[in-house]
Amino acid sequence: VRLVVLVSGSGTNLQALLDAVADETYGARVVAVGADRDGIEGLARAERAGVPTFVERLADHPTREEWDRALAERIAGHRPDLVVCAGFMKILGAPTLQAFPVVNTHPALLPSFPGAHGVRDALAYGVRVTGCTVMLADAGVDTGPIIAQESVPVLEGDDEASLHERIKTVERTLLVDTVGRMAREGWTVTGRIVRFGRPGG
Ligand code: GRF
Repeated sequence: VRLVVLVSGSGTNLQALLDAVADETYGARVVAVGADRDGIEGLARAERAGVPTFVERLADHPTREEWDRALAERIAGHRPDLVVCAGFMKILGAPTLQAFPVVNTHPALLPSFPGAHGVRDALAYGVRVTGCTVMLADAGVDTGPIIAQESVPVLEGDDEASLHERIKTVERTLLVDTVGRMAREGWTVTGRIVRFGRPGG
């Protein structure tokens, strides 16, 4: 199974996938890493692993729609079976969402605390338990069908950074395990419910 991974930052979730695919029993390969900006650690991680990279910056396009189309074309060039957003900080447009299945990961227990500040929002709300969610991306912000979730405790004295680090430890494992099962077993979506396994399997 051919994976294209999209990143916007440090890429520790990407790194977990790069480490996992080294085991040929995992059932997937990272064929390319894409980003919406240059100079991020996520791209350096891909280069160190010898994985092709591409950058498609919104600022380089006259409209958002042009960027959406350009990004979809760059992704298509690598013939992915599955696109994985791993800390990708843009909402994907219809050209990408209609061409490929897309998995996303979010550092909160959706539908609680969607959006770019899920960790900060959970902390401010005063929850005692938060977590992470792996889901199929749809046109909304963190609204797609949920595939897997894992809970993470909020501890005394946590700030956004310490809580996010604790979440990311769990999130990296959840993403790797979930993507691996999708690659090896396939998946079906019925309404909002995602199940592993092939149709009619
Ligand atoms: C992850 O927690 C992801 O869910 C969120 O941003 C973080 C990205 O971390 N959107 P990294 O770039 O994978 O280290």
